[in-house]
Amino acid sequence: MKKIGIFYGTTSGITAGIVDEIEFYLRGEEYEVFDVANGIDEMAGLDNLILVSPTYGVGELQRDWEAVYDTFKNLDFTGKVVGIVGVGNQFAFGESYVGAMRKLYDVVEKNGAKVVGFTSTVGYSYEETEAIVGDKFIGLALDESNQDNETPDRIKAWIEEIKPLFN
Ligand SMILES: Cc1cc2nc3c(=O)[nH]c(=O)nc-3n(C[C@H](O)[C@H](O)[C@H](O)COP(=O)(O)O)c2cc1C
Repeated sequence: MKKIGIFYGTTSGITAGIVDEIEFYLRGEEYEVFDVANGIDEMAGLDNLILVSPTYGVGELQRDWEAVYDTFKNLDFTGKVVGIVGVGNQFAFGESYVGAMRKLYDVVEKNGAKVVGFTSTVGYSYEETEAIVGDKFIGLALDESNQDNETPDRIKAWIEEIKPLFN
């Protein structure tokens, strides 16, 4: 398997902890972690990507992702395999739960990526979300504020599912 690039943004640090857990379940594989606060120059050169953003505002990207979004939108994702992880709070922000996932999904999908790792919405409790296509989340939805006990199993199952699909 070619190297996996994990790109994440965080404002209050929770998503950095999620990335640590993703790394744990990727042990033995070649991967590199990039904080998008430092830019996304390396993204174009990687064929396997995991993109991770918490949601802020009302269904918006985290601010460091916002800062690179114009560059991100102009990348060609043809041939790349992409998994998306959203971090949010389904009770406090139940009308826009993990909406940032959609901002990432729309770009990579339009620009040619194979998006992997859609997940069931069973076990979550929210009013509305933009992060669903068909009847599934367009990636892995996590909620450290209300369901942190579920997070390790959710990450483990997701990584196991997407790992064989990478380039
Ligand atoms: C001002 C503000 C707006 C938020 N808006 C949303 C939202 O629309 N949807 C959602 O699922 N979570 C929302 N959240 C919850 C954050 O995504 C959640 O706390 C996340 O774990 C923060 O991640 P971080 O510590 O990596 O920055 C919001 C949090 C704040 C403080």
